[in-house]
Amino acid sequence: MNIEIRRAIPEDAPGIWAVAHNRSKSVRKKAGVSDEDLSREGFLLYPLAASSENEPNYRERIEHSDHFWIAAEGGRIIAFNMAYTFETMRKFAHLTSNDLNLLDYFLDRWSCEPGCVYQQQVAVLLSHARCGVITQVVERFFENAARSGAPAAICEIAQAPLKNIASTASALKNGFRMVATRIKIDPISGKDRISGTFVRTLLSDSQK
Ligand SMILES: CC(C)(COP(=O)(O)OP(=O)(O)OC[C@H]1O[C@@H](n2cnc3c(N)ncnc32)[C@H](O)[C@@H]1OP(=O)(O)O)[C@@H](O)C(=O)NCCC(=O)NCCS
Repeated sequence: MNIEIRRAIPEDAPGIWAVAHNRSKSVRKKAGVSDEDLSREGFLLYPLAASSENEPNYRERIEHSDHFWIAAEGGRIIAFNMAYTFETMRKFAHLTSNDLNLLDYFLDRWSCEPGCVYQQQVAVLLSHARCGVITQVVERFFENAARSGAPAAICEIAQAPLKNIASTASALKNGFRMVATRIKIDPISGKDRISGTFVRTLLSDSQK
């Protein structure tokens, strides 16, 4: 595979949406995938619109973030890493209820440094899973975030009742450690679920 890894540009929004759609929990469930397989392969809970005037969308997040990366093969987007500092995130015009909840949790309850980067979504096309693509994208994301002065990267991954096994394993392999869990409401079932909080500290060149 000849893969290009670069920062996302606004024109990438439809390709990013296509990857998110490919890995969306609700889309995979409609296709008949069992919970067991979904847990093994991983899933996205909150895909956004590609671009939109009035709903949360990838285009707005690309335009405002310095930490939104993609992998492309032959001009086609095959994977993405959507991340931003909390400071940037709270300025988005369109936020989901999950976004508002996590900003409240990390900034108000944890008193987290607003310059930490929150890695909100990572996904690779099913056809390109387990090829090391996300590991490559995430390495570039960490390097760039460390250079920009972000002290840590944070992400959250579903642990129960449906554990995201692929994402948990990938995050651990890429240097994240699970430091806490919290209860969230599943947007589809309306039931409680347990989400793990993963942290990876970032060292700038002068700190290494
Ligand atoms: C999570 C995800 C992004 C990982 O991407 P990937 O490109 O397949 O991962 P990599 O090839 O870089 O794998 C890195 C390591 O993660 C672990 N891993 C990845 N997928 C795994 C799986 N299904 N089961 C167990 N371990 C897995 C392995 O240790 C792997 O290294 P190895 O293949 O050398 O053993 C991908 O599974 C995905 O898109 N899932 C759907 C969306 C999702 O769950 N996103 C996270 C929530 S926002």
